[in-house]
Amino acid sequence: MTAKRWFVFVLSLGLAMGFALAQGVTITIACGAVGQELELCKEETAAWAAKTGNKVTVLETPQLTNDRQGFYQQQLAAGSSDIDIYQIDVIYPGTLANFMIDLKPYVSADELKVQNQGIIANNTVGGKLVAMPWFTDGGVLYYRTDLMKKYGVAVPKTWTELFAAAKKIQDGERKAGKKDFYGFVFQGNAYEGLTCDALEWIASSGGGTIIDASGKVTINNAKAAAILDLVASQIKLVSPPAVTTYDEEKARGVFQSGNAAFMRNWPYAYSLGNQEGSAVKGKIGVAPLPAGPGGSNVGTLGGWQLAVSKFSKNPKVAADLVRYLTGREVQKERAIKGSFQPTIPDLYKDADVLKAVPFFKDLAGRQPVARPSTVTGPKYGEVSAAFWSAVHDVLSGKSKAAAALAALEKKLNQIKGSGW
Ligand code: GLC
Repeated sequence: MTAKRWFVFVLSLGLAMGFALAQGVTITIACGAVGQELELCKEETAAWAAKTGNKVTVLETPQLTNDRQGFYQQQLAAGSSDIDIYQIDVIYPGTLANFMIDLKPYVSADELKVQNQGIIANNTVGGKLVAMPWFTDGGVLYYRTDLMKKYGVAVPKTWTELFAAAKKIQDGERKAGKKDFYGFVFQGNAYEGLTCDALEWIASSGGGTIIDASGKVTINNAKAAAILDLVASQIKLVSPPAVTTYDEEKARGVFQSGNAAFMRNWPYAYSLGNQEGSAVKGKIGVAPLPAGPGGSNVGTLGGWQLAVSKFSKNPKVAADLVRYLTGREVQKERAIKGSFQPTIPDLYKDADVLKAVPFFKDLAGRQPVARPSTVTGPKYGEVSAAFWSAVHDVLSGKSKAAAALAALEKKLNQIKGSGW
């Protein structure tokens, strides 16, 4: 290169850098912090920042979804522009719609088309695309392949079979000296996670979905009461007494350290359970959750979306980061590294994804059960809190299910008032 060419090259490089820096803005994203969430969010946003010359601040938010929601609402009610992008739960588009921008003008028809259309519909409120789907979730049953073999136990198809298998394995392991071993762990704390677990017990027993699609409160029925009493009767027997304080991470901790035969959890636990240092690496099986008498097996629909705050000072740049994070490349990486379920259906056929998470191939055709968040709109938070506290009372022996559900029905109708 001649001296003159060098000069031009260096000058244009300087101009380009100056231009990029002048363009550089800082985007703040509120990310989840369960399992590998925070670490992955930092990696992925850093990659986008390096590509675009912008900066990203990743904000760690409370672990429990309802606490996170409370924090979001404080920020948004105060009109704060501190957070540009919010990671929001699948149950909250109805509650948060007014605080978020419409993402439709920022995403292409193709980017929308490749997404799961059920989730796009869930995230569309009054014609506005409140958030882009990032990952979906469905409750599954984890089991120990080695222990199933050791005790000659088949993968349980009903709740009664599950509890019997859990007891058999627990008895054997305790006899062999594992005093802290339990049969079955799940999310029994009084929070949104219990709403998810209890909905699975009830819906899989033919007891409905708390509130039906027309808005009618259906929770006070004999099938719902029977399964709640059955689960409550298993605490201390096959589930630890402390299960009534467990969230996802506590349940995972017990299972991953080799102290439980079965666990109900979301797919993220698979990748962590198979990492170096896990006591159950290579010994994890995943199956659909059991069904109740005359019911069918279902997992609750969960999942997370990315929304741009209407108070953001840089909505266009923030929307670009949302497009990047929810796009195919990042979703594929998250599926492989963290067993996060993609919201792009096509990725369930991807060989690399299926190699990392073989059970994803079984999930493609499964119909999860949704919590009644669309029909109850902004009142969902109150509805769910009433539900989980009634269920928690049953689990902790404060109340029998029939009485708890009769009182819950009244309470839900009060919350409903003249309509949802
Ligand atoms: C998972 C699900 C979410 C659900 C939460 C409950 O994060 O994706 O939808 O609300 O668990 O704890």
